[in-house]
Amino acid sequence: MEKTAQLEIEGRPYSLPIVEGTEDEKAIDVQRLRADTGYITLDPSYGNTGACVSTITYIDGDKGILRYRGYDIAELCERSTFMEVCFLLIYGELPTDEEFSRFKERVLAHSLIHEDMKSFFQSYPGHAHPMAILSAMVCSLSVYHPQLLKAEQTGEEREETISRLLSKVRVLAAFAYKRSVGEAFVYSRPELDYLANFLHMMFTTPMRTYEPDSVVRKALDVLFIIHADHEQNCSTSTVRMVGSSKANLFAAISAGICALWGPWHGGANQSVIEMLEEIHMAGGNYKKFIEKAKDKNDPFRLMGFGHRVYKNYDPRAEIIKKYCDQVLDHLGINDPTLEIAKGLEEAALTDQYFIERKLYPNVDFYSGIIYRALQIPTNMFTVMFALGRLPGWIAHWKEMIEEPGMRIARPRQVYMGATRRDYVPLAQRGSN
Ligand code: SDX
Repeated sequence: MEKTAQLEIEGRPYSLPIVEGTEDEKAIDVQRLRADTGYITLDPSYGNTGACVSTITYIDGDKGILRYRGYDIAELCERSTFMEVCFLLIYGELPTDEEFSRFKERVLAHSLIHEDMKSFFQSYPGHAHPMAILSAMVCSLSVYHPQLLKAEQTGEEREETISRLLSKVRVLAAFAYKRSVGEAFVYSRPELDYLANFLHMMFTTPMRTYEPDSVVRKALDVLFIIHADHEQNCSTSTVRMVGSSKANLFAAISAGICALWGPWHGGANQSVIEMLEEIHMAGGNYKKFIEKAKDKNDPFRLMGFGHRVYKNYDPRAEIIKKYCDQVLDHLGINDPTLEIAKGLEEAALTDQYFIERKLYPNVDFYSGIIYRALQIPTNMFTVMFALGRLPGWIAHWKEMIEEPGMRIARPRQVYMGATRRDYVPLAQRGSN
């Protein structure tokens, strides 16, 4: 027996189907609402609106649960690798040995970008933000793969597009970094794995070949796994929205990068470090910043705190915090911002303002401290987030594109503007 919700509008009863997820999430299906009642729903910022059903990622914000295709994030961080998680998110299952080898080979095969693209980087000023470069370059990749821009792709064309993006976005990110520090571009080495190659392209110079040690490689793997997906967040919803017009995947990912850039989203990891450094430079008095964050007349927010979904500790922040201690100890780094972050967290979590609003550290609160320890510059932090999130964006685009009966995303609105009025010629408008 189908479960329904009863709605009465102007004395007339309506039954709306109830949708229940595999984790007992419940939704009222309003797809027929406008046709049947003439009414729409109104939910600015979509806090109560499901845009789709999905089988990719499950979050329980109250319990602090995050699972990719049913696997818990902590277990994946401990036992898996970022490349394996890419396969899991995009194809739905952990790969067999043969599937994984084929996937890695295909990604490795696309580790170069067209030589013409190198000149694009030179046209940017050295201070250009790497997120601006990355979004432009990802969209520009489409110029060199016209055969992958068709609105109706075959499965093989989709796979080709996916593996090229997974491989080349990493190269574009490394080249954006090299441009920002005025160093020569470094090419991928076929004998290195995905992330080791990224670090190689970032930090090898004509004077020294960068060899990441095992602790650094594991820390980066964990950071990328943690960032890999997060269901219908702002940037993933942007990728779905752009992809729903049948724009190509390069364009959709480029749009997702732009959405992620915002300081209320992925850009927060850069803002957190800038905030921690400001507190450090001001003598370490983080209590003043807690008061600023609580002051309604002050636009300042405690960056790295709060979340639309997590009303408990973000499980990703917990994992990153643990790795912060490990990586800094291993590298012998004493970073004052880590102690300030821990003090800030302790002060906020015992403050009624944060407790009442269930504001906890989120994924961005500690991530920048590890990136700094890995010598990643602050303006590259959100690029790192984008590289981690890429498989999630791709998985959601693929899930949407392959959905039978998929339609273009087109929300409605409630119009609150002027009603019908006649045009007034300039001479009759009077002066204001
Ligand atoms: C990410 O969606 C995802 O899944 C995102 C993400 C992912 O993996 O994709 O998890 C990644 O984007 C993490 C969030 C990174 N952003 C930040 O750390 C920026 C600081 N955080 C806030 O801007 C805010 O918490 C958001 C944007 C994260 C969430 O905003 P919401 O859900 O719209 O919450 P809200 O603005 O309605 O806040 C509710 C209340 C308000 O106070 P009142 O009006 O009730 O008095 O809490 C206050 C807010 O002023 N508040 C904060 C605060 N966050 C919310 N007050 C001070 N400092 C903060 N950080």
